[in-house]
Amino acid sequence: MFEHIPSPMLERMQELERLDAQDRTDGTPRLDRLRQIPPETGKFIALWLAASPPGSCIEIGTSAGYSALWLALACRATDRRLTTFEVLSTKVRIARETFSAAGVEDLVRLVHGDFLDRSAEIGPVGFCFLDAEKEAYAACYEAVVPRLVPGGILIADNAINHGEVLQPMIDAAVADARVDALVVPIGKGELVCRKV
Ligand SMILES: C[S@@+](CC[C@H](N)C(=O)[O-])C[C@H]1O[C@@H](n2cnc3c(N)ncnc32)[C@H](O)[C@@H]1O
Repeated sequence: MFEHIPSPMLERMQELERLDAQDRTDGTPRLDRLRQIPPETGKFIALWLAASPPGSCIEIGTSAGYSALWLALACRATDRRLTTFEVLSTKVRIARETFSAAGVEDLVRLVHGDFLDRSAEIGPVGFCFLDAEKEAYAACYEAVVPRLVPGGILIADNAINHGEVLQPMIDAAVADARVDALVVPIGKGELVCRKV
């Protein structure tokens, strides 16, 4: 899966990595920044998607589509498709460019809208990557967990670097009898939940 990343995909990933690094140092306003996951987190979520049970694969928080490219790699390897939700039109425009340049439009469906308004559309979920505004995590978690199939996976980003905001939600997930949950210290900290 990682050894043979098609060159249009690899080139777009590298371009987004450069833009993201630049954003973090040149004073770009927060809402305009890409705020992407690092590559090791990309590999981590791709491995989990590839190992997840049948059901839809979704992402909440597309930004420019960088994490979606990692998930698309896993979708290609397992003959699945990803639906990714993004609320900001500026980000939707860049993500469309990403998916076209990377040649993954057959693997990725981009939905422009607030996930919390669209969650009824998703059906049974095999895999979900949650990377939206941290204040929305608890509501997104509650929208997704009842829809996870048995063995279904939900991974939430920023469980360590935004620990102060997310701690109540993390504590609730760890105590939630519907899932087994653990924070993994990779990247910015990933909360991994598996539906029992
Ligand atoms: C941290 S960035 C996502 C980065 C992306 N996952 C990546 O690693 O390439 C968060 C994105 O989520 C979007 N967002 C926030 N709340 C959302 C919601 N409720 N529904 C859909 N998108 C949302 C923001 O506009 C922003 O572009």
